[in-house]
Amino acid sequence: MLEDKDRIFTNIYGRFDQSLAGAMSRGHWDGTAGIIEKGREWIINEMKASGLRGRGGAGFPTGLKWSFMPKSNPDGRPSYLVINADESEPGTCKDRDILRHDPHTLVEGCLLAGFAMGAVAAYIYVRGEFIREREALQRAIDEAYDAKLIGKNNKNGYDFEIYVHHGAGAYICGEETALLESLEGKKGQPRLKPPFPANVGLYGCPTTVNNVESIAVAPTILRRGAAWFSGIGRPNNVGTKLFMLVGHVNTPCTVEEAMGISFRELVEKHGGGIRGGWDNLLAVIPGGASCPLVKAEDIIDCPMDFDGLRERKSSFGTAAVIVMDKSTDIVKAIARLSYFFKHESCGQCTPCREGTGWMWRVMERLVRGEAHKREIDMLLDVTKQVEGHTICALGDAAAWPIQGLIRNFRPEIERRIDEFSRNSHRAEPVLVA
Ligand code: NAI
Ligand code: SF4
Repeated sequence: MLEDKDRIFTNIYGRFDQSLAGAMSRGHWDGTAGIIEKGREWIINEMKASGLRGRGGAGFPTGLKWSFMPKSNPDGRPSYLVINADESEPGTCKDRDILRHDPHTLVEGCLLAGFAMGAVAAYIYVRGEFIREREALQRAIDEAYDAKLIGKNNKNGYDFEIYVHHGAGAYICGEETALLESLEGKKGQPRLKPPFPANVGLYGCPTTVNNVESIAVAPTILRRGAAWFSGIGRPNNVGTKLFMLVGHVNTPCTVEEAMGISFRELVEKHGGGIRGGWDNLLAVIPGGASCPLVKAEDIIDCPMDFDGLRERKSSFGTAAVIVMDKSTDIVKAIARLSYFFKHESCGQCTPCREGTGWMWRVMERLVRGEAHKREIDMLLDVTKQVEGHTICALGDAAAWPIQGLIRNFRPEIERRIDEFSRNSHRAEPVLVA
């Protein structure tokens, strides 16, 4: 359990003073110039030693990602830092809270990360629906410019510009290369990787794309030291993390906790318990919509981190913990997610464009019980044809919730089919070889 002294985002707990003075009173922008004086190598090594893994969902080691950036730019191409604030994964709302309440953590993080990777500027791509959040962020950036903390000839000793770009509300623009396309003014469609952005990124230049939370925690890690951060949690799963408790808990919230906190403790301590009590828990989608659901009995004592959820055949994702009690129509809930992924597919690769629509249509029939039982395996087979065969992770994201549903709730799907067959006097078709 995290002690208050180890919290980075104290302002999301009700102080609500986003101003530069407020941020400074909470310790932000303290000794930034001194950190820069220690040099690029020191910062990158410290970030590697901290064990921070990307907080956007994929968990790629942040320090390692920064180290991919070129040490010099002999061909004259500038380097860029791009911040992914296009938070759109259903259930996920942590970056929104950082932008709203603690924007200076991100602005300071941009300067330090930008310096470490030799970037000349940061572009912050903000989700289209985040209007007030973009305004709060822009105010913080303006304050930082006015106080000469960023910009040309600033007090921190590294010239650095920060620009905000407002998205137009497409989920796919949260995929890092679609985001780069969109920033360049083109249609937001993912690029094939490799090359990774560190080689060919924004305008063909070396670029690192990082999530808001990953960058916002960096200054505190560099101030307090890698050992402090890596001492929280357990090996390979360290640090503090913003968890979002959504759905059927008594007090939904976003809270900073230690990685590896158990699901039970997280919900008891911050969510006010499960609606209707623990016996009423049905299942949990632990990391945002693209993560397979986990049944109640498997999640209650699960350490909420990358390894804990991988062992339960799910994933940690963004730590958006979607709690579903027994009033949930679980088949309908997953069908709704299928609709979401079908709707958000950019359509450029066939397995995703055709597969997401196909999966959604079968899911709708399963909701009504109209499908035949053999279609359950056929649907599972289609998810396997989509998974791993697409340009970006949206195809996987569409496949995994369905796989989780079939793995954990096949009897419920079959029960609906039986009920529908009984009521409509329909027989399961006999397959002729
Ligand atoms: P990924 O695993 O392909 O990449 C993660 C990061 O590591 C990227 O920045 C990538 O460039 C970098 N990377 C990976 N391998 C590399 C290599 N060999 N060399 C250099 N860099 C490398 O995952 P992706 O597609 O970026 O993200 C998928 C995740 O995003 C999902 O797990 C999901 O949880 C999350 N997600 C989050 C959303 C949100 O609202 N925060 C929305 C949708 C998905
Ligand atoms: Fe577009 Fe889907 Fe292919 Fe991703 S997987 S590039 S969203 S069609």
